[in-house]
Amino acid sequence: EFFALPQSPQLFKQILMVSGMDRYFQICKCFRDEDLRADRQPEFTQVDVEISFATRDLVCGIVEGAMRRVLKTIGREIEAPFRRMPYDEAMARYGSDKPDLRCGMPIHELSDVFQQSSFGVFRDAVDSGGAVRGLVVEGGARASRRELDQLVEQAKQLGGSGLVWARRPAGAVQSSVLKAAGEQSIHAALDAAGAGEADLLLVASGAGFAASELLGQLRLSIAKERGLLRSDAFELLWVVDFPLFEWKEEDGRFTSMHHPFTSPADEDIDRLDSDQRSVRAKAYDLVMNGSEIAGGSIRIHRQDLQRRIFRLLGISDEEARARFGFFLDALAYGTPPHGGIAFGLDRIVALLAGESSIRDVMAFPKTAQAVDLMAGAPSPVDLRQLRELHIKLG
Ligand code: AMO
Repeated sequence: EFFALPQSPQLFKQILMVSGMDRYFQICKCFRDEDLRADRQPEFTQVDVEISFATRDLVCGIVEGAMRRVLKTIGREIEAPFRRMPYDEAMARYGSDKPDLRCGMPIHELSDVFQQSSFGVFRDAVDSGGAVRGLVVEGGARASRRELDQLVEQAKQLGGSGLVWARRPAGAVQSSVLKAAGEQSIHAALDAAGAGEADLLLVASGAGFAASELLGQLRLSIAKERGLLRSDAFELLWVVDFPLFEWKEEDGRFTSMHHPFTSPADEDIDRLDSDQRSVRAKAYDLVMNGSEIAGGSIRIHRQDLQRRIFRLLGISDEEARARFGFFLDALAYGTPPHGGIAFGLDRIVALLAGESSIRDVMAFPKTAQAVDLMAGAPSPVDLRQLRELHIKLG
């Protein structure tokens, strides 16, 4: 038998709400088994919060007050309430669900411009339900051919299917697809994106948010190169209206974008069986300088709805009983509506300290391979210990 770590302490804080406690907060150690990056560690610290009879506005208000106090500790005053941006807008305009707003440069929708264009790649992308989008690089018109080639190459390295550039220094249009797209479309694209004579326009196409994701990565790389991502500037925003589900191609099923206890938006519940992709969640992430520093949601507080969501996630009634029986039972005891959030303490400290990795603000961090180099862990154990645990190595 094994211990699993099912979103601990998520279920336990919810059960405290069921039991009649109306507020909970805890500084807790979390253990996660996930891909590690500069902003992730297998062991990290959250400030975990849960509130009964919570609404999104209530949670956001409490968090905003807390973050203002936190920033005051380094002498910074920030304005509240923070901006709220729907997930779809964040993805379309910044190519990320955690947009970094320190550098401006939003991505522009250019599908309309290219829908009628003679440039087949863009026209087909729009016809098949995708999008064409563009990024204006201020003052970029003076880029050399080599620099333009480098940008196109960088886009390829990032997995993009292609990158088109356009500019019109002194009114004369130049573009990597001038012949195929025609002068008129290029002019129209530069106008639609608001590019001036000194600017460069980068354009990409793709299904869903693919074009924005590519341009979003170029945006951050250009901003970094130009020193626009200053570590002493603090840009906070809420990303809201996330999809409830995410399709996992490799598993052939939906998973929760936040976690399975997140409530669907009331007005979307009647589409749960017919159009899962369009159902939004009552989830919210707090983003600071392109980093997700807190995430939470209003929870499901009805047993029947929780069961339904488990089923939609491919968790059978038997499995739900085996894994979450205690929790489903608890939901039958007059559960108050409730919600909460968890702050990533290490990430917040790293940002306040101007560090790019949470490893720099942790006393004993692990490497990207989850190795503690100092203690030499993990390490082999001897046969006796394995036998004691009934573990056979293959
Ligand atoms: P979530 O998984 O979004 O939500 O985590 C909340 C916040 O914790 C931080 N964080 C991490 N920091 C360092 N290393 C990691 N591996 C790591 N994973 C997460 C992030 C993130 O925003 N139970 C829910 C919260 C809730 O719904 O109330 C949860 O854990 O800053």
